[in-house]
Amino acid sequence: MKGGLRSSFMGIPLKNPFVLASAPPTGSARGIGRSAASGWAGAVTKTLTRMPQYARNLTPSLLPARNLGWQRIGMLNNELRTPMTLAEWCASEIPRARQSAGADFCLGVSIMEGPSPRDWEISARDCSEAGASYLELNVSCPHGAPEKFRGTFIGDDPGLLGEVVRAACSGSAVPVAVKLNASSHCLVEAATAAIANGAGGLVCTNTLPGLPPFDHLLGRPEGVPVTPMGLSGSSLLPMNRLAVARLSGELGADVMAVGGVSGAADVIDYAMLGARAVQVATAVMSRGLKLITSLERNVTSRLAAAEDASFGSIVGSGLRWVTSASQCPDEWFTRTAEVDMMRCTLCRACVPVCAESAASCISVADDALKIDEDRCTGCGLCLMACPVDALHLRNLSDTEGFDV
Ligand SMILES: Cc1cc2nc3c(=O)[nH]c(=O)nc-3n(C[C@H](O)[C@H](O)[C@H](O)COP(=O)(O)O)c2cc1C
Ligand code: SF4
Ligand code: SF4
Repeated sequence: MKGGLRSSFMGIPLKNPFVLASAPPTGSARGIGRSAASGWAGAVTKTLTRMPQYARNLTPSLLPARNLGWQRIGMLNNELRTPMTLAEWCASEIPRARQSAGADFCLGVSIMEGPSPRDWEISARDCSEAGASYLELNVSCPHGAPEKFRGTFIGDDPGLLGEVVRAACSGSAVPVAVKLNASSHCLVEAATAAIANGAGGLVCTNTLPGLPPFDHLLGRPEGVPVTPMGLSGSSLLPMNRLAVARLSGELGADVMAVGGVSGAADVIDYAMLGARAVQVATAVMSRGLKLITSLERNVTSRLAAAEDASFGSIVGSGLRWVTSASQCPDEWFTRTAEVDMMRCTLCRACVPVCAESAASCISVADDALKIDEDRCTGCGLCLMACPVDALHLRNLSDTEGFDV
């Protein structure tokens, strides 16, 4: 396969598009060395800061998002920092990580400071000189940091963000990327300010802000105390697909996607929306570094099935389908539900959902399911109710449109 899985970010070559995100697995040179040995193309250190007194770790720092199981919904964390200071990282961990991971490993160093641009400039200088391939400015941490004028406090203020980025770029000898939060009320404005002030790339998203559930038997929260936490895992996918599409589509930015990646389908979705690489945290924390093996194998086989396309050739290929509702031709939305009676078991699960929440146009008579096409709105609800995938939506127009 020409080109294979090779990619690049801000001009930095990547032997594959898989990078470990800033999180506990990258909290030491040893962890980063392990990730390189497992086959990851790069890793981003846990966020480092010159002012560790601002980063307070609470326990428990990790909680499952409950109900459907933590792998399926995600994880909440309020984990803020590594046990080592930025000075210690620059003196030993970054050089050791560089040495054990090898020269072609993409070593991102994540830094976070407060609103003083000078602090960002100094940290950027020190970390880039210590051996980073690129710097990742964390202006997107949603918990613990904003109340200290850090994290999303900066990312949600495009003016301040621009000053911080300019300062970091002036201190850094390597490319600078900015890590954003998909939930920001000014995502595109912040990204625009970052690029205008020298950022070479964008990383999206950090965790989204959230609260853990209460334990109703104890009458108190499950995690004590209840503070804002960061939600990660597959629940981030829908919001972050949109964010990545906007950053790469509207701004044409070099984007690395992070949020909810656990399998090949997530990787390919992000790539089609313009991401040149993906980062992974939660899935690695639950399934281990060996996840890289299945990501490589399954992305490769999906690309091969699509006529030997290389990873690079699919980057951005889905953006032409992302548009606004007002710009969509009506014929894309002219659909009716249709049943495959070879599959249908006549369980009737679709009948009440359509009757109670849609057009009430499904009936069962003479051992057959009937759908009144004149009334069906093509909303798609019944497809979700069917346990055996016997329903689909058929496009009714003559012009281009999709069956679902
Ligand atoms: C326990 C934990 C700690 C994290 N620490 C950091 C951090 O120090 N800096 C940072 O930029 N992002 C941090 N993140 C966010 C991840 O890098 C990533 O952006 C987010 O978890 C979404 O990716 P995922 O769904 O693959 O976990 C952390 C995430 C988790 C779960
Ligand atoms: S698509 Fe909507 S309206 Fe049509 S049959 Fe299904 S639930 Fe009813
Ligand atoms: S839910 Fe599916 S299997 Fe059950 S009656 Fe409807 S179409 Fe048939």
